[in-house]
Amino acid sequence: MRTIMLLNAKGGCGKSTLASNLASYFATEGHTVALVDFDPQSSGLEWLAARSEDTADIIGINGTEDGMRLPRHVDTAIFDVAAGISGKELTAMVRRAETIIIPVLPSPIDIRAASHFIRDLLLVGKVSRQQTKLAVVANRVRENTLVYHQLEKFLKSLKIPFIATLRDTQNYIRAEEQGLGIFEMAPSTVEKDLEQWASLIKWLRSKRSRARG
Ligand SMILES: Nc1ncnc2c1ncn2[C@@H]1O[C@H](COP(=O)(O)OP(=O)(O)OP(=O)(O)O)[C@@H](O)[C@H]1O
Ligand SMILES: [Mg+2]
Repeated sequence: MRTIMLLNAKGGCGKSTLASNLASYFATEGHTVALVDFDPQSSGLEWLAARSEDTADIIGINGTEDGMRLPRHVDTAIFDVAAGISGKELTAMVRRAETIIIPVLPSPIDIRAASHFIRDLLLVGKVSRQQTKLAVVANRVRENTLVYHQLEKFLKSLKIPFIATLRDTQNYIRAEEQGLGIFEMAPSTVEKDLEQWASLIKWLRSKRSRARG
């Protein structure tokens, strides 16, 4: 089973948004997908509840209640992990994922928090680079802003692949309201966003995002 985790101790950086969009992407590609929601506000499960019946199936799992009991036929599990995670909890969570994506917002506070979090992840979380592949994504970006340039510089300085820059757009909010991902919206309205996701998808489809052996 493929396991992809959205992780960052900082709240509001886009973990749930990326999780629902990834779940929608893999489901529309024909995969059997589970969205495992660890968010105390159950935003992923609420998003699933808003999905209409004619959309591709996604199995919703309450991570805090059901733990890791995933149906056997699931081939792709997307983990939406709650903010504020650290220490032993973080270590245990990291062990469950083959691929970890860390969204980071362009703000001085988020950049600072991400630099501490990634250090924790590599030290406390004992991420073995062979077992777990990490990547960072810049989210809610307004290009040509000074703070985005600072974020870009920070993300490029890490020894972790910087795989995508996603713009700040109401498209994610519109999709979220309808229980959709941008991959399920009218292509003409999300053209720019699909273009921005292409590098993220390419990384996920490549061996670089898969554990060795
Ligand atoms: N690229 C984007 N453009 C516009 N709005 C966005 C974007 N990404 C996320 N948002 C919005 O920002 C808010 C926070 O995003 P989200 O809930 O995905 O973050 P989170 O990391 O899951 O937060 P939490 O830590 O509280 O679980 C949401 O209202 C979401 O719709
Ligand atoms: Mg969330």
